[in-house]
Amino acid sequence: MSRVTASAPGKLIVLGEHAVVYGKPAVAIAIDRRIRCTLTPYNETTVNGRSFDPDKHPYLVSMMRRSPGPMRIETTSEIPPGSGLGSSAALSTAFLKALYSSDAADDKRLATDAFLTEYEVQGRASPIDTSASTHGMGIAVNGPENCGEHLWDITMNGNTWSVRDLAIPKMTIVVGYTGIHAPTGPLVEKVRRYRQKCRFADDIIGEIGTVTEEGMTALRKGDLVRLGKLMTDDHKLLSILGVSCDELNKLVDASLRHSYGAKLTGAGGGGSMIALTDEPEKVCGSITSRGGTPFVVRTGEPGAMTEHKN
Ligand code: MEV
Repeated sequence: MSRVTASAPGKLIVLGEHAVVYGKPAVAIAIDRRIRCTLTPYNETTVNGRSFDPDKHPYLVSMMRRSPGPMRIETTSEIPPGSGLGSSAALSTAFLKALYSSDAADDKRLATDAFLTEYEVQGRASPIDTSASTHGMGIAVNGPENCGEHLWDITMNGNTWSVRDLAIPKMTIVVGYTGIHAPTGPLVEKVRRYRQKCRFADDIIGEIGTVTEEGMTALRKGDLVRLGKLMTDDHKLLSILGVSCDELNKLVDASLRHSYGAKLTGAGGGGSMIALTDEPEKVCGSITSRGGTPFVVRTGEPGAMTEHKN
């Protein structure tokens, strides 16, 4: 291997986060914000010109175990960390895409190995983020057979997630970033503890699954009114699970006047929300007026790719 640059997109979850960890369906879309990673074999491992500190880079510790030797690692990111937009999955996927670029590594191996890194660092996870980052475009996890071409299955600790390509109709999504860094691991752990102490937690998780299945049908029909309503319902269910926060609720609430629907996206606890709309300027204005940072995402983004190799 010589010098290789690869990139992978961030993602947003349209429906089903958290419940997907427990085998329920979910929908994710790759977004036009990417992480790039350049790897160069070297006499010691460095990260962006500094010596490698394992405490600061738990994801890299996990991935470097797959490396044939020390590397100079250079990364650039368009995705704020802890924003709910899949920065850690995009980093893992871009790193491994660069590392495997000399093999004929297929996407299933890439998505699985990037997921193993997420699992190791977060403690518990589903393969949705790394699969969206690997495949790009849109994916359905544990969706019905007729929702799209089967891509791969990933199994961990007796759970199997089936990943399918999902055709995404033309739609405009505005992201509102709260500016609050909210790593995924503690929020996934919060839901695990809630399930232990609350008898209704599994009912809520089941309802998220039902809302998501209905959302997959609405997506297939291009029914944005129905999809938006289901997204807002999902936000309410996620709030009951305890993963929303005042800042997210404020941005969701402010967006609803000009949207089909709105919800938190990703792990919650801060991070970002999304609104489905055909009035993006007005939604951006509402988000800004409540202290969030808005941007309109472009969908149809390609998955992990090698950009340069020499
Ligand atoms: C995070 O983007 C999505 C969660 O469902 C965690 C996971 O599926 O690994 C909260």
